[in-house]
Amino acid sequence: MSEKKMSSSRKHHLKSLMLSIAKVLLEEEEREQQEERERYMAENCPPVSMPRSMQELQDLCREINHKIDSIDEERYDLDMKVNKSNKEIDDLKIKVQDLMGKFKKPVLRKVRMSADAMLKALLGSKHTVNMELRANLKQVKKEVKEEDKELRDVGDWRKNIEDKAGMDGRKKMFEAEA
Ligand SMILES: *[C@@H]1O[C@H](CO)[C@@H](O)[C@H](O)[C@H]1NC(C)=O
Repeated sequence: MSEKKMSSSRKHHLKSLMLSIAKVLLEEEEREQQEERERYMAENCPPVSMPRSMQELQDLCREINHKIDSIDEERYDLDMKVNKSNKEIDDLKIKVQDLMGKFKKPVLRKVRMSADAMLKALLGSKHTVNMELRANLKQVKKEVKEEDKELRDVGDWRKNIEDKAGMDGRKKMFEAEA
């Protein structure tokens, strides 16, 4: 078993760890959005009491008209904010591309060292652990397969969230709920 294998399963493990943390954060964010939406609706859309006279009906119309105006203003402000953020995201993407272009991969020298030699160097006299490690590695390999599946699920799940993100997605969600 080479040292390359070890680092790739470790990489895999770290990646799945990061993804699972990101998953929790995204779930939290989604829950907060849902709560915020409910709070907003309760505050801004209380149940309508049916008008019982012409006067009440006219009052209701005036009130609704007024609400439409103020909500349209709010929508416009939010639209502007979204546009501004989108522009910032585009600018940052360009910057990232610029930086990637400038970044030169350093030339790495190959170090020829067996896993045993590496363990000996790292652990010194405790080198005997390596048999245990090897047994563990076999187990890790199996786990990686499981993680692969999990990663795919997380991938799909993230796409789901992406679909829900952005103005269009939000609109779709909203329409689906209505
Ligand atoms: C935001 O951008 C969209 C599309 O680029 C545009 O149609 C809209 O008018 C913009 N909104 C504001 C408030 O500038």
